[in-house]
Amino acid sequence: MKRLGILVSGRGSNFEAIARNIATGQLDAEVAVVISNRAEARCLDTALARGLNAVCLPSKGLDREVYDRTLAAELHRHGVDLVCLAGFMRLLSAGFIREFPDRILNIHPSLLPSFPGLDAQHQALAHAVKITGCTVHFVDQHLDAGPIVIQAAVPVLDLDTVETLSARILTQEHRIYSEAIGIVIAGKYRVQGRRVLLT
Ligand code: GAR
Repeated sequence: MKRLGILVSGRGSNFEAIARNIATGQLDAEVAVVISNRAEARCLDTALARGLNAVCLPSKGLDREVYDRTLAAELHRHGVDLVCLAGFMRLLSAGFIREFPDRILNIHPSLLPSFPGLDAQHQALAHAVKITGCTVHFVDQHLDAGPIVIQAAVPVLDLDTVETLSARILTQEHRIYSEAIGIVIAGKYRVQGRRVLLT
């Protein structure tokens, strides 16, 4: 069974959705380890309560290359096959990406390439788009830019706030992240340039 390494920085609802889908048998994988770069991340408690390995590796003040080497070593130590960024709010170095070639996924709360970076839901409201959504993509050396595995569209309503829009997007995030992980660990795809072709 493929082993997931889940990287988080905060709430961890995407991690919980993945863990739930594994527990109910909808996703055939196991969580090898959950790693947070912030000590206060709630999801470390959630992971421990589920009997999973939870590790806190604080990143504050550390050199990126040094931190990423520690992070990669921890993931290797747990025999991770696929790295899943789930609200992990840090850029990864080229060295880290080379450690896990084509084996890092990220979820982002917009229809990329629109609204990369921070506060994607705020960016969508500020631009007054009618539709936004979420994207699961492979991670490459550029920010929120690697080949796209799955996207889901979400309507933006006139009265939306960042909170209401984020909640609507999050429901879709919880659905498509597990679906994308399932495709990738089953090897039911091939990457041709930017294109992820489902096979
Ligand atoms: C999610 O909306 C995720 O898409 C976003 O952070 C939130 C984490 O929520 N990620 C990014 O913006 C990455 N650029 P969660 O901790 O409850 O899963």
